[in-house]
Amino acid sequence: MAKERTLAILKPDCVRKDLIGTVIKHIQEGGFRIVSLKMVRLSKQGAEGFYEVHRGRPFFEDLTNFMSSGPCVPIVLEKDNAIEDFRKLIGATDPAEADEGTVRKLYADNKGENIVHGSDSVENGKIEISYFFPENELVQMHA
Ligand code: CMP
Repeated sequence: MAKERTLAILKPDCVRKDLIGTVIKHIQEGGFRIVSLKMVRLSKQGAEGFYEVHRGRPFFEDLTNFMSSGPCVPIVLEKDNAIEDFRKLIGATDPAEADEGTVRKLYADNKGENIVHGSDSVENGKIEISYFFPENELVQMHA
């Protein structure tokens, strides 16, 4: 299995609920290595840029308002099969449909405010990582 990277974002609801440490614990116990992380406050325009693929969808306005409503924590993660494994760890977009024990099932309120984002493919992961992290912020653990 190949090492992959994915972009996680601990969303503003995660930060407001003081769940940063709790969710990072789930992530690390799931076997993911943290390559880089930071706390940022997206502008409305910044949130629209990140979710550009969803422009025109009925939830786009709510999503970008929410994502710019407070600080969030983008995290670059690395693991074999990271994309699929991370999506398993966090569960379905709608917490009501998420499997027991997943991060969204445990902590999310609804489909819009669902605690955490995860990239849906290796290609999109690369684009999403570069949205938040320049190359020199992607720390190499092993030289
Ligand atoms: P995320 O993985 O960050 O990617 C897009 C986000 O849009 C998604 O999580 C949800 O939080 C949000 N969203 C809100 N409403 C919907 C919807 N009806 N369908 C899909 N995503 C939605």
